[in-house]
Amino acid sequence: MNKLTTVILFSLLSLFALVSAFPVRRDVWDPQILSPNASTVWVVGQTYNVTWNTTDAPAHITNSIGTVVLATNGTEDYENPLAANFSILLGSISITVPDVEPGSDYAIVLFGDSGNFSPDFTIASS
Ligand SMILES: *[C@@H]1O[C@H](CO)[C@@H](O)[C@H](O)[C@H]1NC(C)=O
Ligand SMILES: *[C@@H]1O[C@H](CO)[C@@H](O)[C@H](O)[C@H]1NC(C)=O
Ligand SMILES: *[C@@H]1O[C@H](CO)[C@@H](O)[C@H](O)[C@H]1NC(C)=O
Ligand SMILES: *[C@@H]1O[C@H](CO)[C@@H](O)[C@H](O)[C@H]1NC(C)=O
Ligand SMILES: *[C@@H]1O[C@H](CO)[C@@H](O)[C@H](O)[C@H]1NC(C)=O
Repeated sequence: MNKLTTVILFSLLSLFALVSAFPVRRDVWDPQILSPNASTVWVVGQTYNVTWNTTDAPAHITNSIGTVVLATNGTEDYENPLAANFSILLGSISITVPDVEPGSDYAIVLFGDSGNFSPDFTIASS
């Protein structure tokens, strides 16, 4: 066996070992956000539950740690998450509305496996 063949063979064996070390299939899951929705009005400073549908949650989730972020006009405020470090399997997380400009172009993004946007909803001043 020449050197190149040995290297290729060894690489293939390593790759195989790596793949078989993670036999559990992980499913990407985008839970549907139930609230807030298009008819929701949140008031600045009040506490609400963000809720999502967990009935179709797969057995193995790639990332089950959730984060809730507020978005305006499609711009997500990653710096100030409304909630973080909760289990995405809860189906509900309590958040307090930050002191933002009132408007009807707000949405929340629920992150776990990937980001899922709610419909646009309204935030009113207190
Ligand atoms: C929309 O959100 C409100 C709370 O903001 C909730 O009471 C209502 O059930 C939601 N509607 C649907 C269709 O899930
Ligand atoms: C949020 O959910 C919790 C637990 O399900 C419930 O006790 C609480 O009353 C809810 N809060 C609001 C503002 O709906
Ligand atoms: C939750 O998801 C399941 C399965 O996709 C669906 O049958 C059910 O109607 C959904 N529940 C709500 C409240 O949307
Ligand atoms: C979002 O876009 C709308 C329409 O372009 C604008 O009126 C509004 O001020 C924007 N909101 C923010 C917070 O930038
Ligand atoms: C997330 O929550 C777990 C359990 O409550 C805690 O041990 C961990 O330190 C938290 N991580 C962060 C980054 O807050």
